Amino acid sequence: MTISDWTKFFRHFSKKTPKQSTELSDADIVLGHTSENEAVIWPKPTLVESSSVLCLGASGSRKTTTIVEMMIREALRDPDTSHLILDPKGDMVAYIFQAISLYGPENLNRIYYLEPFTTGFHFNLVKLPRRNRPAKVFAWQLASLVGRLTTDAAGPRKDLSTGARQLDGAMMVIESILLSEHPDATLLWGEEALTRPGGVEALAALSPPDVGPRMLAAIQGLSPDLKVSIASRMRLAFSGLPILADMMAAPGCIDIGALLNAKGAIVIVDLSDPLGLGELRPFLANLIFRLGLDSLLERSSPHEGHHTRIWIDELQIVSAVLSSALEDAVATIRSRGGSLVGLSQGTVALAQASPALLPGLLSNTRKLVGRLNAEDALLLAKHVAPAGSDESFGAIRARVAARAVSFKNGEFYWIDNGKRTRFSAVNVDVDSWKEAAKREAESIEVTKQRLALAKGVKHISLLDAARAWGTAPIEHSATKNKPRKTKPRWG
Ligand SMILES: Nc1ncnc2c1ncn2[C@@H]1O[C@H](COP(=O)(O)OP(=O)(O)OP(=O)(O)O)[C@@H](O)[C@H]1O
Ligand SMILES: [Mg+2]
Repeated sequence: MTISDWTKFFRHFSKKTPKQSTELSDADIVLGHTSENEAVIWPKPTLVESSSVLCLGASGSRKTTTIVEMMIREALRDPDTSHLILDPKGDMVAYIFQAISLYGPENLNRIYYLEPFTTGFHFNLVKLPRRNRPAKVFAWQLASLVGRLTTDAAGPRKDLSTGARQLDGAMMVIESILLSEHPDATLLWGEEALTRPGGVEALAALSPPDVGPRMLAAIQGLSPDLKVSIASRMRLAFSGLPILADMMAAPGCIDIGALLNAKGAIVIVDLSDPLGLGELRPFLANLIFRLGLDSLLERSSPHEGHHTRIWIDELQIVSAVLSSALEDAVATIRSRGGSLVGLSQGTVALAQASPALLPGLLSNTRKLVGRLNAEDALLLAKHVAPAGSDESFGAIRARVAARAVSFKNGEFYWIDNGKRTRFSAVNVDVDSWKEAAKREAESIEVTKQRLALAKGVKHISLLDAARAWGTAPIEHSATKNKPRKTKPRWG
């Protein structure tokens, strides 16, 4: 036998690694079957090896339905695992409600449904427990996000470029609001502080003495143009919609980190954006993803508690803004008891989002690859390292790309440690899903409304709040000598 023959001989046997149907344990969730009826198993969320999955496939290749089938089966099998689901398009959310209605409608009460465009939820970030995250750090994260809001989504806008001074200004305004002891403090005050006469003085008066005066001096040193530019971004981020303004002025804040650190929670963030407000969607996706991610990074490593899955559909829509957080996530959350399941229509958009993102995702995940467009298939094939093969890289790449382009809907490669298994996904009974959702329509509606924001959130303007404080807005130089004994007790 030649070396090449031996390699083929071993490859033949090593191909048998997916478990035979007969070897399945009751707890295994079957992702699909090969043409030889070998079962491909959905990876368990464990600490031992990365259970993150990247699912790639063109529109209609059955990514979302297949993954939701896995998600709901897993949620029922592992009731302690918590979940954060970010859905930029809304069909994953719809499928989740359908599948859970069929397989376990009693689990609807595990769902925390958050929808920021029409239903709203309590999201006054001033009220968010900061635990060991310093206000300055949170202010910096928020300011950077606000800064990127118009730049990323609308392409480069020179007049609004995020200079360091702008970022610094936004950071200090946000920090002052976060640290204000006023019970009605809201990030909506940021815009007012920067555009209303006496606004920044009013904010300084409502902020602690070690923060207010510094912020006042910094903002007074900015040109009017810069102030307007920061204010316009803050307006878009925090009050770009009336419902968003209500969320930011609400009396409390959903603590996504605390929900994920509780066992069994299924937190669904529906970013389907029925109003077509493109820029807010990646902003909110990023903010919520980071809040979830931070709570995982606070866990000790190795983590001993329950696992947390983060599922993101249509990754290509949010990858431009999520890329750095995603890179952090895939590399670090395994030992913190977390894993990511990302779905994307292709590879090219991910590669364009940042140079490190696609290689980072590919090297830290198992891959589920359905039918791809030619360009996406070629890029994927370039990254898929052939394992234990005597064929040239070029030949394998060409074959992988050609197959992926010609897959039928529901046909996939499972790529684990460089080994490819071609299989057909389990047949998802979407008609039964839909029927079940019709039966459970009332409970689904109750679930969707459980955290909905009540109408008529009270907004207190910055200037009114400062007037009620009982002190005239203070000047920078005066603050040092003026102990604020008159400060009323709020709440
Ligand atoms: N087993 C099945 N039998 C019949 N139809 C199916 C099955 N699985 C999925 N479908 C249907 O195929 C369509 C596409 O499925 P799905 O939404 O999962 O694709 P996708 O890859 O997520 O596409 P997109 O990228 O556009 O979101 C849906 O209308 C779904 O109802
Ligand atoms: Mg989909």
